[in-house]
Amino acid sequence: MPKLGVGVLASGRGSNFEALVKATRKEAIDAEVRVLVVNVPDAAALKRAEALDIPAVVLDHREYGRRSEFEKAVVARLNQHDVRLVCLAGFMRILSPFFVEHYRNHVMNIHPSLLPAFGGLQGIDVHRAVIESGAKVSGCTVHFVSEEVDAGPIIVQRTIPVREEDTPDSLAVRVLLEEHRAYPEAVRLFSENRLKVEGRRVSVLGS
Ligand code: GRF
Repeated sequence: MPKLGVGVLASGRGSNFEALVKATRKEAIDAEVRVLVVNVPDAAALKRAEALDIPAVVLDHREYGRRSEFEKAVVARLNQHDVRLVCLAGFMRILSPFFVEHYRNHVMNIHPSLLPAFGGLQGIDVHRAVIESGAKVSGCTVHFVSEEVDAGPIIVQRTIPVREEDTPDSLAVRVLLEEHRAYPEAVRLFSENRLKVEGRRVSVLGS
C-alpha cells in the first residue's frame, strides 16, 4: 500500500508542520508529508521545509482576485503531490465551502484550546481568554474542517492543567507541546482508516 500523502497549509511559524514531518518519518505512521503550501511569502515555516527537505510553495492569496481562484491554485498544487489529507497548521485563511466540500473529512485543523470552548479566537488571545475564564484545564483539539470556523467534528484532544502562576505565554508553550503530539496522532488514525464521522461525532474504530 502506498503511503498516505499529506499536504500542510501554514501561514507562520510552522512548528506543527515540523512535528508532523518528524513524526511521520520516525514513528509507525503510514503517511508522508509531501508538500508545504504557505500563503505568506516570508513565513518561517518555509525555512523549516528547506531544512527538512520538503517541497514548499508560496501561493500569496493577495495575488488572486477571488478566494476561489486562490483555493483552486492550492488544490492544483496538492494534486501535483498526490495529497489525500490536508492539514491546516496555523493557516490564517478561512476556507470557502468549495474547498471544504472538495476535501470533506479530508482536511484537518489544529486549535490551541479544548473546542468548542474558545473557538473563533487565535494565537495568544486563546490562552489569555482561558486564563481569564478561570478554567482549570486547557489543551488542544484536532478536528475536521467544516464550513463553520473551529466547529468541525473533533478527532483528538489533549489536555493540560492550567496552573495558578500561568501567563498566556507559559500556557501557550505547554499547549504547543501537546499540539505536537495530538496532530501526528490524528494523522495516524486517519492513515489507518480508523476515523468514522457521523454528524459532529468522530468514532475511533478499534479503540
Ligand atoms: C498553533 O497554536 C495552532 O494550534 C494554531 O496556530 C498555531 C500554529 O503554530 N492554529 P505553528 O505555526 O504550527 O508553530
